[in-house]
Amino acid sequence: MGRALMARRPGRPSTPRLTARICVPAFAKINLGLEVLGVREDGYHELRTLFQTIDLKDEITLRARPRGLRLVCRQAGVPVGSENLVWRAAEELQHRGRVRKGVEIRLDKRIPVAGGLGGGSSDAAAVLLGLDRLWGLGLGPEGLLPLARGLGADVPYFLFGGTALGLARGDEIYPLLAQVRAHVVVVDPRRPLATAAVFARLDARLTPRQNGYTIQRFVASSLRGEVSFRGLTNDLETAALEEAPDLEPRIGRVRAVLEREGAVLASLTGSGSAFFGLFERRGNAARAQRALASEGFTAHLARTLTAQQYRRAWVESLGERGRSAGRTRW
Ligand code: C5P
Repeated sequence: MGRALMARRPGRPSTPRLTARICVPAFAKINLGLEVLGVREDGYHELRTLFQTIDLKDEITLRARPRGLRLVCRQAGVPVGSENLVWRAAEELQHRGRVRKGVEIRLDKRIPVAGGLGGGSSDAAAVLLGLDRLWGLGLGPEGLLPLARGLGADVPYFLFGGTALGLARGDEIYPLLAQVRAHVVVVDPRRPLATAAVFARLDARLTPRQNGYTIQRFVASSLRGEVSFRGLTNDLETAALEEAPDLEPRIGRVRAVLEREGAVLASLTGSGSAFFGLFERRGNAARAQRALASEGFTAHLARTLTAQQYRRAWVESLGERGRSAGRTRW
């Protein structure tokens, strides 16, 4: 009997079971420091940045379908077609992996949109990692890297998470030996900022950029197991405030409260407009969060995630499938 005929025998489905459903987390990031070194030939900017994941997250459910892509998101203003990076991530993986199966992606957004917290990029990376598992491709984070880089500068970082150095467009990732463990207050001024517009403002400035050495110092001292946030800054902050001058008094107030409550670092994240404070003690972070909320700010209390915690959250979310699938190199 031929193999094709055997596959069609009653009770023996010719396609894999299509009930598979997995829920995966998509964590937000903050930039502990960000230095813009210059404009590249491809129009992007050469960066040196310190990425850090936090436990504020979107939730993504992937449900196998015989074919086609479907994206579902209840939040207003989030596109559910090919304009969404998540869609492009799934389509590219389907194409490159020559996958005939489909998927329904349900996106539950918690991370503020266009806030510099990497929500869209994290969603895309989570979809790549989740579909790699759902479709049994066995690529793992390293195998997904080229595809992630093509999707956006921040996407590759989310394949690894934790405390990491980002070079080039921010898409060359070097996880650091010393991982930050801290409490974080994230303030969302509810004022979306377009990354490209903030970078354009920076280019229009007349003052030449200084080469800062604080990120180099951070990386060097991390080899001794030390982390010092002293001197870390975000080169995009001035440009972001020029792009959205209405933000300046609010950001000033947020920084003052965070510093008053003992933040070891208070900074804009990415191109903004979210602002964060880093605290060694939870009590101080909680006090800062309450103080800001009482002044009418949308403030979230979060924790940093190390690369190990990030990986563990993934393995746990994949449950038995995560542990048993030896082909995925987590
Ligand atoms: O790669 P992504 O689509 O996330 O980048 C959004 C925009 O941010 C780019 O179109 C570019 O204008 C700007 N950008 C940049 N240099 C980087 C990263 C982003 O100029 N390293």
